[in-house]
Amino acid sequence: MLKFENVSFGYPNKNIFSKVNLFVNYGEFLFLVGESGIGKTTLLKLIYSDLKPTEGDITFEDFDSKKMENRDIPYLRRKIGIVFQDFKLLNDRNIFENIALPLYISGVKEDKIKKRVFDISSKIGIFDKLNNYPYDLSGGEQQRVSIARAMINEPKLLLADEPTGNLDPFISLEIVKLINEINTLGTAVIFATHNFDIVKKMRDKRILQIKENKLFEVKLKI
Ligand SMILES: Nc1ncnc2c1ncn2[C@@H]1O[C@H](COP(=O)(O)OP(=O)(O)OP(=O)(O)O)[C@@H](O)[C@H]1O
Ligand SMILES: [Mg+2]
Repeated sequence: MLKFENVSFGYPNKNIFSKVNLFVNYGEFLFLVGESGIGKTTLLKLIYSDLKPTEGDITFEDFDSKKMENRDIPYLRRKIGIVFQDFKLLNDRNIFENIALPLYISGVKEDKIKKRVFDISSKIGIFDKLNNYPYDLSGGEQQRVSIARAMINEPKLLLADEPTGNLDPFISLEIVKLINEINTLGTAVIFATHNFDIVKKMRDKRILQIKENKLFEVKLKI
């Protein structure tokens, strides 16, 4: 589904990746770990084409970084859900509208939007909040809304960039469980975090570590 072949990337004053390879299959769950500033967010941005590799090739389904043009990017992003640490909800829109946003952008009809938003918000446990605004909700609830928004187009891949970074440990665990549930229903997940407690709680997952401009598969010691 997702493939990195000899991918290199650097910012003008900092090299981040040198000839990195990666293969992710449909339905997999990967943790992406590594110290702060090492390149976790950068790797995710390369996947959703916010950044382009300076060398090598990234393919996701039919999309190929070498052939991608700017007009292809919205179509790629419809197939990838993204969740951030700071939720990125629109404060002047209610929860229904926040979740529906990707569908408004794709020009989906109103009755279909309603059905999809009702459906996903009940699955994710925020159906009773649809008329509220983001500032009425707790951090954990806001993250659920952003997960619902990420899942509304039924993406094959969910990217989560430190999604529990602003939440207390108990709520963090609930969010991790929710993302795991989404994964068991078939969506592949790449979960970037520097919180090792979370990684340790989910021992059966692939763990990818960024170190010295490379990616390493790591195993937890028993
Ligand atoms: N637009 C940019 N221009 C120049 N340097 C950047 C830019 N974005 C990020 N960097 C640098 O690249 C490095 C990798 O950043 P990145 O955000 O990918 O790290 P990260 O692993 O996600 O860190 P954290 O755990 O703190 O989120 C950092 O040193 C950062 O300062
Ligand atoms: Mg980051």
